[in-house]
Amino acid sequence: MKSLAIIGAQWGDEGKGKITDLLSLKSDVVVRYQGGNNAGHTIIVKDKKVVLHLIPSGILHDHCTSIIGHGVVFDPEAFKKELEDIKKSGITVNPEKLKISGNCSVITMFNKLLDHNRENKGPIKIGTTGKGIGPAYEDKISRKGIKLKDLLDYDILLQKLSANLIEKECLFKNLYDCEYPSAKEEADRLFELGKLVAPFVTDTFSFLDQARKEDRKILFEGAQGILLDIDYGSYPFVTSSNTSFGGIFTGAGMPGGNVDEVLGITKAYTTRVGEGPFPTELFSELGEHIQNKGNEFGATTGRKRRCGWLDLPLLKYAVKSSNLTSIALTKLDVLCDIEGLKICTKYIYRGEELDCAYPGIDLSEVEPVLEDVEMFKDDFKSELSNELNTYIKRIEDELGIPVGILAYGPERSEIKFLKDFLN
Ligand code: IMP
Repeated sequence: MKSLAIIGAQWGDEGKGKITDLLSLKSDVVVRYQGGNNAGHTIIVKDKKVVLHLIPSGILHDHCTSIIGHGVVFDPEAFKKELEDIKKSGITVNPEKLKISGNCSVITMFNKLLDHNRENKGPIKIGTTGKGIGPAYEDKISRKGIKLKDLLDYDILLQKLSANLIEKECLFKNLYDCEYPSAKEEADRLFELGKLVAPFVTDTFSFLDQARKEDRKILFEGAQGILLDIDYGSYPFVTSSNTSFGGIFTGAGMPGGNVDEVLGITKAYTTRVGEGPFPTELFSELGEHIQNKGNEFGATTGRKRRCGWLDLPLLKYAVKSSNLTSIALTKLDVLCDIEGLKICTKYIYRGEELDCAYPGIDLSEVEPVLEDVEMFKDDFKSELSNELNTYIKRIEDELGIPVGILAYGPERSEIKFLKDFLN
C-alpha cells in the first residue's frame, strides 16, 4: 500500500491525531487537503503536548514532507503562532519539510468578523469554532477570495481586498454595527504575514504528482469528520469543506484512483461539539462521566463535547460515503467498566426501520434503537477479553470492514495495530 487516507468517521475529534502521527512515521509525504485551523490534533511527544491546528502531523518527523494543499483555508496569523509553538517544542520547520500551495484560500479578518457576528447575532447558531472558516470558503466559492499567492504582491492584494470588502462593508455597517479594518489596514497586515509564509509557498500539485510517480508513501490527513461534510453531513450543522474522501481529489490535487486505502477513525462511543442533532446523545450522569473520563473538551475551543453511544447507522453511512476500507476504534479505555453499555443498531425514522443513514435524513427526527452490550474490563496489555472481542466483532460484522487499530489512551504507545498500514 503506497497511499492511505485517514478520515474522521463521526463528527470530528475521533483521535485522528495520534494515529496520523504514528502512521506518518511510515510515510514520505503527509497532506492536509481541507478545513483550516478549526481542526485540533493533540499529540503527546515525550510527555510534551503538541497541538497542531493547520500544519500536518508529518511535521513532527524530519524524514517527512508536509503539504498544505489548495483545498485548505489558510489563516496566516494562526500559522505564525503555530510555527512559533512548534519550534519551541524543538521541532525543525523549513521549506524542505513544509510546502504550502499558493492557491490556498486565505482567511481574512473580514471572514473572522463575519463568523463571530453571525454566531452571536445571526438567525441560526451553528456553534462554529469562530475561526472564519465558513466565510472564507464562501469567498472562494463566490470567486472573490484572496489566495495565498496574492499575499506576495501588495498591489494585487490591496485591489482584491478592496473589491472583497464592498459587500461585507454593508453588513459590518448596517447589519452587525461592528468595527472592521479598512482594505488598506488588512492589506498591510496580510502583506507582512505573507513575508513569513513566502518561503513555504510552492506548487504542491506538481510535487505530489512527482511523489506519486516515484512511488513515495503518501498519507492524507483528514480534518473534522464525515458527518461534518458540507454535502454528506448533518447540514446546516456542518463545516464548510468536504471532509469525506472526495475532498482529497480536489483539495490535495490528487485525482481519484490514487489512494489505496481509507482508514476511518471512530471513537468507541460518539461525541459532537457545537449545535445540531445527535441521535444517541446521553443527557444523564453517565454522559457526564464519559465526558470527564474521556477528557471530552475541544482542543481548538475548549468547549465541552456532547457524548453518546456508538451509532452504527451513522457509521455505516460513513463507510459507504467515503469508501472506508478499515476502521480504527479509539478511546476504548473510556468505555471500560461502564455498566449499562449500549450501542445503537437501527433508527426508527418516520415510522420505518432504517439501518443506515443517508444524505438529507433529518437526524432530529430519528429514534435510536439501542441494544445492550456486555461490559468489558481490559487493560489492553494482556489478551483482549471475550467481551471486548465480541464488541469488536459486532462492529466489524455490521460495517463489513475490519477493525484495524485499537487505541486506548493518549500516549503514542497506547495503541494496538491489528492490521498493517503503508507496507
Ligand atoms: P466551523 O468549521 O468553525 O465553521 O464549525 C462548523 C461546525 O463544525 C461546528 O459544529 C464546529 O464545532 C464543528 N467543527 C469544526 N472543526 C471541528 C473539529 O476539528 N472537531 C470537531 N468539530 C469541529
